[in-house]
Amino acid sequence: MIKPEQQNTHLTELTMDTLYHLGLDTAMDLKGIFGDTKYVCMSGSAERVEDFAHQCNTELGLGIADADIVPIGKTERYSLYKIGPIIAVSHGMGMPSIQILLHELTKALMYAGCEQVAYIRIGTSGGIDLAPGTVAITTQSINGKLQAEFVQDVLGHTRTWPTEFDPELAQQLYDARENLPAAMGKTLSTNDFYEEEGHLDGALAPGYTKEDVHTFTETLRDMGVINIEMESLAFAAFCLRAGIPAGMVSATLTDRFQGDQIDFSKQELMTFSRNAQQLVINFLRTKIV
Ligand code: URA
Repeated sequence: MIKPEQQNTHLTELTMDTLYHLGLDTAMDLKGIFGDTKYVCMSGSAERVEDFAHQCNTELGLGIADADIVPIGKTERYSLYKIGPIIAVSHGMGMPSIQILLHELTKALMYAGCEQVAYIRIGTSGGIDLAPGTVAITTQSINGKLQAEFVQDVLGHTRTWPTEFDPELAQQLYDARENLPAAMGKTLSTNDFYEEEGHLDGALAPGYTKEDVHTFTETLRDMGVINIEMESLAFAAFCLRAGIPAGMVSATLTDRFQGDQIDFSKQELMTFSRNAQQLVINFLRTKIV
């Protein structure tokens, strides 16, 4: 599950490992629950992963009774569903939240004896020169300084990790688009929705103008950036470091050249999210028999 040089030998000192935020521990039958997992699909919201779990069950013909699609573990922070060889789990908003999930879930799969598991994040984002509802597939994430690295401050020291996504998986996801609007390119991943993404509709005077935002968005477009969100940088870095193939798709909810407000109806937003979910289901259909 994790490449040898990144395996944490300190874990062998624990008599029991409590995966606190997931409400799981190693006294449970993790192999029985998770042992056959092949894909982990994660989204920010608990509502969206529940919807995705049901969509997978129906469209992939997994034959699970609806009443049996229930969260595993606790739901205070994350909601996790298992449908056949697929885990659908919410990760909350932002990099700290997804990182906690990645550590605990990866340990759960490691304790379950899983070997070949791919992770796919199905998110939402602000698009750049893309019609809302387009599914953006990320090849590489860049940070707010426009560098392709995830920076961590650990014990007073700074370390940096590369942030590429698995190129083969990215291409396979793109190839699964069928008639869905889709684009492939880089993603800007920030630590804040309002100011670090350059929104003009936060509570405080942002200290930049509409023209500044336009110029910045043009710079991003010229670098091959197609969207902006808040998790892919940490997600790519974790998976690359662990040796887990990772893919990143997200529905765009705005075109940042046109503005910031996400003022579509609930139904329209559901359609946009469903585009990203559908693309991943198209991909999974080619993998799961
Ligand atoms: N998510 C983001 O991070 N930014 C957007 O503009 C939309 C969704």
